[in-house]
Amino acid sequence: MRLGVCYYPEHWPEAMWKDDAARMKALGIEQVRIAEFAWSRIEPSPGEYDWGWLDRAIDTLGEAGLKVVMCTPTATPPKWLIDRHPEILPVGADGRPRAFGSRRHYDFSSPAWFEASQRICTAVAQRYGQHPAVAYWQTDNEYGCHNTVVSYSESAVKRFRAWLADRYGSIGALNTAWGTVFWSMEYRSFDEIDAPVATVTEAHPSHRLDYRRFASDEVARYNRMQVEIIRAHSPGRPVAHNFMQLFTEFDHYKVAADLDVAAWDSYPLGALEEQWFAPDVKARWLRSGHPDFASFNHDVYRGMSKLPFWVMEQQPGPVNWAQWNPAPLPGMVRLWSWEAFAHGAGCVSYFRWRQAPFAQEQMHAGLNTPDNRLDVGGNEAAQVADEIRAVLAANADANAAIRSKVALVYDYEAKWLFEIHPQGADFHYPRFAFEYYSALRSLGLDVDIVPVDAAL
Ligand code: GLA
Repeated sequence: MRLGVCYYPEHWPEAMWKDDAARMKALGIEQVRIAEFAWSRIEPSPGEYDWGWLDRAIDTLGEAGLKVVMCTPTATPPKWLIDRHPEILPVGADGRPRAFGSRRHYDFSSPAWFEASQRICTAVAQRYGQHPAVAYWQTDNEYGCHNTVVSYSESAVKRFRAWLADRYGSIGALNTAWGTVFWSMEYRSFDEIDAPVATVTEAHPSHRLDYRRFASDEVARYNRMQVEIIRAHSPGRPVAHNFMQLFTEFDHYKVAADLDVAAWDSYPLGALEEQWFAPDVKARWLRSGHPDFASFNHDVYRGMSKLPFWVMEQQPGPVNWAQWNPAPLPGMVRLWSWEAFAHGAGCVSYFRWRQAPFAQEQMHAGLNTPDNRLDVGGNEAAQVADEIRAVLAANADANAAIRSKVALVYDYEAKWLFEIHPQGADFHYPRFAFEYYSALRSLGLDVDIVPVDAAL
């Protein structure tokens, strides 16, 4: 059980870093995640690396006794890379590329992107793989965020055809398996198959399902590439990825199979706003989050993590991105932290050390205000740190693993299938699983969440 924080040294004058690190340490923070969006500072121009600032940032954190979670910076390809290789941009179902100017603007299937990612991951892993302060790694940031798993680019379609050829062996086998004789949709070769979009009425359901499976496998392939590079240059340091709450657009079991730590980003109030909950439920839990929501995600990610799962980003106060962004009730940041530990978390890491007074998330809280005073969430984090020390002093084994009596099977393909073949317009597979989970919890039962092929 330990606390962490997400920190962006590139947002702040270097003169502040030492004091930040000392204050983190004094507050009870043990690990600090950095650099997941720092590519434009690491490589400001093609092939010209500027390591100096990052070397000093890592040294400063290390000298304060903090452990660094080093990230690969691939969630934000820089402008020069997109200008050189516009084909990196993902393509929407409308056939239009998505634009530069935010983040996650890349296509998992683009060969230019894969090659650029290999290069930057290798450069970062080589530089910091053996650094004594670097204890852990995070690949990329929130795969699939902002609806970026599926792309309809030429590269994606090309790789999809190869994926189909691999899966079915012959075009005859595909025609039989899909049943393309229906509506005369038979193909003579894999090269005739396009993405399942822009059809007159619904595209063939097997075509759609396979496109989802393919897109999911592309995420796993991409993550595996990063993990292999990190392991080659930084052996023995656990590799994590920060998954999202209730996100189902790729098979998380397959991605987690290559990681040591399945981590997730917990924003209980933003989630309540975004999810299906009825207005009265939203009103009731407006400032605390639904009582089963974070726990459901803890149990999902605990079930796929080799080492104890982490909360890589814990909501520290109001977020900026939901439709309404209330402040958590006093005590919620502390409660969410303890709830994570009660579900077996190895680390709860707060997003972020200090609120930035610029750009997209300037209205999103941090542990500190932009003018550097400890905010509500920061005070609660400090209290949690004290309590952790007390709990561990009384019982060093405090969060040893337990096995629940009930296992809930949770499957990503099922989500895609139900979406493609809806029995009713409002049927929503994650909600269905969540409601069973909630019912079990209301009976006082702990729940393990497992894949279909789990050894029970
Ligand atoms: C996500 C991202 C972070 C940040 C937060 C804001 O979880 O990983 O970079 O955008 O949301 O809540």
